[in-house]
Amino acid sequence: MTRKDKTGKRIIKDSLFPVSLFAIYLGVILLMSGIHQGLVVLMNALALNSVIQTLIPTIYWSAVAVGLTFFTRKKIKDTYEAPLHRLAEATEQVAGGDFSVYVPTVHTSDKLDYLDVMILDFNKMVEELGSVETLKTDFVSNVSHEMKTPIAIIKNYAELLQMKNVSEEEKLEYAENIREAAGKLSALISNILKLNKLENQRIDPEIESYDLCGQLEECILQYEELWDEKELELEVDIEEGAVIQADPSLMELVWNNLISNAIKFTEPGGKVTIRQTGTSDHVEVSVSDTGCGMSRESVRHIFDKFYQGDTSHSKEGNGLGLALVRRILDLMNGEIQVISEKGKGSTFTVKLPRQKEGKEAIGG
Ligand SMILES: Nc1ncnc2c1ncn2[C@@H]1O[C@H](COP(=O)(O)OP(=O)(O)OP(=O)(O)O)[C@@H](O)[C@H]1O
Ligand SMILES: [Mg+2]
Repeated sequence: MTRKDKTGKRIIKDSLFPVSLFAIYLGVILLMSGIHQGLVVLMNALALNSVIQTLIPTIYWSAVAVGLTFFTRKKIKDTYEAPLHRLAEATEQVAGGDFSVYVPTVHTSDKLDYLDVMILDFNKMVEELGSVETLKTDFVSNVSHEMKTPIAIIKNYAELLQMKNVSEEEKLEYAENIREAAGKLSALISNILKLNKLENQRIDPEIESYDLCGQLEECILQYEELWDEKELELEVDIEEGAVIQADPSLMELVWNNLISNAIKFTEPGGKVTIRQTGTSDHVEVSVSDTGCGMSRESVRHIFDKFYQGDTSHSKEGNGLGLALVRRILDLMNGEIQVISEKGKGSTFTVKLPRQKEGKEAIGG
């Protein structure tokens, strides 16, 4: 961590007059001058001729100059060249697709200079690039995985259809299986496209004021056949007239996902409750079920793309529903909360801002 000043700006050490280097040079020069004096006294005592008396100090001071040059060279190398070299190597690794690199700073966090700050920023940049890359590869492998099963089903049944001695009844059954798998594939692709559009803000939500109660009732009716089939008890408690400002076609996806999950994850004979309440500012819709519920760990991931916690149902759907729900509610200024207990059931509560009286709908 870098140190920060009161305004939140990073404190970076400017390279001022380097006192330690000055002390080293002064010490060396004083010592060398002392030795020089000693040499002069010695040469006089030995009564050497004047050529030698000139030559010896010249050689001596040349040696001192060479020593100081090497010392300065090493200092520059340690301070700038070595870290820059490490940075160059790390950059090459990143360019080659390795995002695990980490370059250590030259100084400790209380003495950072501009080079250290550049190294810290580089490390942060690589870390972020790495996480984007992981997300991308995860996404591609998830999509491929989800597509593989229906494609394999279509292929197998198509091969069966091509065989001789297939009865009319079997033909119908195989064709039905192919139709179902193709339906799943098309639902997967349309969900991916929707999510992609929502995430890249390429959808302009068509915000309008509309009656949420009517929409909820319509959505619930669509699932009539499904709960009859599962013999689920249904309790609906909706107030009359609750006008909200949102995009109705996107909100329909939210209700459909929540209701279909409640039905899917509840055993036959269970109960699903849809309740709509509100304050003067907000409208709340909760979808509760007495189904399988989720562990805390699952609840933390249910809004992630492709996450499917309950493996017994993972053949149905692709784990994109709640990712879509969360994204849509973000765009509608809404919120979603989940309360769930494994084996007991779950409640999803959506909170949306209510249309203020006398306020015109925005957008549209
Ligand atoms: N009402 C619920 N009861 C228990 N678990 C649930 C409930 N709703 C969601 N989950 C869990 O959250 C996971 C993610 O839900 P999500 O709606 O995103 O995907 P899905 O329903 O499996 O597939 P899709 O929505 O793409 O058809 C589910 O697989 C399930 O494990
Ligand atoms: Mg779902």
